[in-house]
Amino acid sequence: MKRPVLAANWKMNNGPTAAKAFMDTFLAGYSPRSDRTVIIFPSAVALTTVANSSANRKDVLTGVQNIHWAEKGAFTGEISATMAKDAGAEVVLVGHSERRHVFGETDAQCAKKCCAASRAGLTFMLCVGETIQQREAGETERVVTHQLREGVSQTQNLISADFILAYEPVWAIGTGLTASAGDASAIHTVLRSELRQMIGTRADEIPILYGGSVSPSNAAGLLAAPEVDGLLVGGASVEPSSWLAIAQT
Ligand code: 13P
Repeated sequence: MKRPVLAANWKMNNGPTAAKAFMDTFLAGYSPRSDRTVIIFPSAVALTTVANSSANRKDVLTGVQNIHWAEKGAFTGEISATMAKDAGAEVVLVGHSERRHVFGETDAQCAKKCCAASRAGLTFMLCVGETIQQREAGETERVVTHQLREGVSQTQNLISADFILAYEPVWAIGTGLTASAGDASAIHTVLRSELRQMIGTRADEIPILYGGSVSPSNAAGLLAAPEVDGLLVGGASVEPSSWLAIAQT
């Protein structure tokens, strides 16, 4: 029986005022559920707002979209895992495709970020995914398994309580193109077997989420697919009504 993880990545949307209004509307409509976990990834400036709004909701977690790997220091504009935790984060998103492709984040940096999150006692959600060129060249499996191996290469003791994997094909993000449930399932199966090679049967407890143009109309089909343990949603998570529909899928 799956216990789905439904994650909202607001990207650069919803400052503190909009975040408060969103959480008031969302939580009023979303009754506590023990059969799934919701994670909201607001912008860093709205972390505390979201964490405070959901403070008495164990089924709704707060995440940070990015961290620096260092504990503290002269890194203007960055925040550390411990600072994010102090502001209310329980989960860290690492290696999102926009971080990799817009900001040039490397596998080596992702590895340091996963390690920093884990050291701070935060769950980390590592994102992997191929570009359209890699897909057309038949390189999807090689790319995503490489990103997985490299991303967790500095993290000891991978366990389900601390680690979530997200498959987000770059060509499906914000484009309206969604991987079919069958395609998502096939790549998730590859990732699961790679995880099994790495950590044995503990791999079966690690949630593998799909992301890329998820909407209220395709969420149920994706969620029902074998090996799809949850959804990581961008555009359709920014407004409470469509997010509520997906969270209740
Ligand atoms: P969209 O749902 O807007 O395609 O974004 C997906 C994503 O990047 C979530 O992290």
